[in-house]
Amino acid sequence: MKHLIDIQELSTNDIQELLDIAEDILKDPVKYSEKCRGKKLATLFFEPSTRTRLSFEAAMYELGGNVLSMASAASSSAAKGESIADTAKTISNYADIIAMRHPKEGAPLVAAMNATIPVINAGDGGHNHPTQTLADLLTIYCEKGRLDNMTIGLCGDLKFGRTVHSLIAAMARYSNVKFILISPVELKVPSYVKKDILQQKNIEYVQTTDLEAVMPELDVLYMTRVQKERFFNEEDYLRLKDSYILTPEKLKNAKSDLSILHPLPRVNEIAVAIDNDPRACYFKQVYYGKIMRMSLILKALEVL
Ligand code: NCD
Repeated sequence: MKHLIDIQELSTNDIQELLDIAEDILKDPVKYSEKCRGKKLATLFFEPSTRTRLSFEAAMYELGGNVLSMASAASSSAAKGESIADTAKTISNYADIIAMRHPKEGAPLVAAMNATIPVINAGDGGHNHPTQTLADLLTIYCEKGRLDNMTIGLCGDLKFGRTVHSLIAAMARYSNVKFILISPVELKVPSYVKKDILQQKNIEYVQTTDLEAVMPELDVLYMTRVQKERFFNEEDYLRLKDSYILTPEKLKNAKSDLSILHPLPRVNEIAVAIDNDPRACYFKQVYYGKIMRMSLILKALEVL
């Protein structure tokens, strides 16, 4: 059974296959419009979401399938105290595949261990977000034409930002990729990500607090939101929330072919004035997210 809990479970070949399917969907979406006829996706979201849940659902509809949606914990039996394991066993009777988001790290893994259908992690706490990473990879691949030979700057909340952890794990497998990790000291990438991925694979990385100083080096700039919901006290959030605000002024020394990504939602990390800059890719990234989830559903359900 093809669960996807952590991006590390996918080999580089698996990722390439997903990218190839996505490129084919981009070329000829009609070819895929009946592939999931009669199949059901259940979206179980115990945390807020706009893009991830709706792109999974749009993806399933565009494949000709159907969707069962649980958009909040409050509206489900989780509010009565039901365990993740029991929920997963139950939903296995209703659907063919589950996409699950949960505030607790590891919850989708528990669901996968108890479900009899594939479970996709749609974000677990401050840990991982493999399908956002697949969207990010397709965006970089389409924009740059490659996933190797580049300097990627990740900026903002690198501690709690689960998309950052998964993206580092994915990009670290391509050759000659250098990481520049830009964050306040309190929001640095967790040491397990540095130890188990960057140091273990001997990958070049730099940690800095100064976005403007490194701007000229970057091929990709991945901005992130300070993750308010993961802070233990509001004071720290208020002190750190405006650490980085990307403005046209700050892009003055950037490369002309820089790609600016953001998993969204944006709070104020990127000035709206940048949205029309040709280097802004974050709304294309939303589109690629739906296409990549179509690719993943096809592969997980083995209906290619
Ligand atoms: C991200 C997430 O949920 O981790 N959003 C998303 O899925 N596109 C990023 C965020 O919430 O800041």
